[in-house]
Amino acid sequence: MKIFVTRKIPESGIQLLRKYHTVKVYSKDTVIPRKDLLQGVRWADALLCLLTDKIDKTIINANPKLKVISNYAVGYDNIDVKYATTKKIPVTNTPGVLTDAVAEHTIALLMSVARRIPESDTFTKKKKYKGWEPMLFLGTQLKGKTLGIIGSGRIGAGVAERAVRGMGMNVMYSDIKRNIPFEKKYKAKYAPITRILKNADFVSLHVPLLPSTRHLIGKKEFNMMKKTAYLINTSRGPVIDEKALVSALRTKRIAGAALDVFEFEPKLVKGLEKLDNVILTPHTASATIETRSAMSDIAAQNIITILQKKKAKFTVNTEVYGGYKNGKEIF
Ligand code: DGY
Repeated sequence: MKIFVTRKIPESGIQLLRKYHTVKVYSKDTVIPRKDLLQGVRWADALLCLLTDKIDKTIINANPKLKVISNYAVGYDNIDVKYATTKKIPVTNTPGVLTDAVAEHTIALLMSVARRIPESDTFTKKKKYKGWEPMLFLGTQLKGKTLGIIGSGRIGAGVAERAVRGMGMNVMYSDIKRNIPFEKKYKAKYAPITRILKNADFVSLHVPLLPSTRHLIGKKEFNMMKKTAYLINTSRGPVIDEKALVSALRTKRIAGAALDVFEFEPKLVKGLEKLDNVILTPHTASATIETRSAMSDIAAQNIITILQKKKAKFTVNTEVYGGYKNGKEIF
């Protein structure tokens, strides 16, 4: 069968696909333009796409024979899953293999912002360092501080693990329901978001982007946070109202922020890049060689499994299985 891959990804998954199928990878290493995406989807039996590809009704309708949409990401807010489900198309993702990489990156951001590493680096490279000073780049110690984790799933737990065991931090968390194993393992206190915002020294976001989490943190929430607190986001940009964040950082309403994701990605809200108390990375939290290769393998395996008329383990809309498509039963 024919597989269309919207951008170059680590070779291992492509090789895996080529063992069974004909594979076309979009030839340029850029986000695929809409017309090329449409053309690729029309040609293919299966689509391997990225979080930068908007897979909406038009794309899905472009090929009534499309058998699977395999997202090269754990998040899938770029896909109209509801619509794909009405068309009985399985949508798959790549969970699990990103957990450690994203948790490590979150901790790297947390430490960097607390200890002002990028500012210190620039200062030193610019030869501004003239000798040891008692007050130079004073930061915030982590030991004994409270980390508020919003979302206690795999990545939230990975962050808690490192924060508690590695740095002696205390954890508060919020989620749609209590997570008893998480509480026991990390001695974490369950609390509503408002209480976390009022009490935490660091707040780290680990929620998917849903209508209910869009602008979860905005002006009202910044006003609840401690003036000494830091906000870390490695989830999805629109979870934060970025304009309100710029204002909170500019007025020192909070001490700082570290972001790997942006509301209007890849664009930054005006003024964000000018602030000293924010650290920005270009959506690279999962960017380790190990993780990106594992994601490639899983995205490929999801396609292979579904094209063998079996259920793929990492299907986000499992309700498609057991249904009918074009009059034929689909596994
Ligand atoms: C994902 O997989 O959702 C991540 O954001 C990619 O880094």
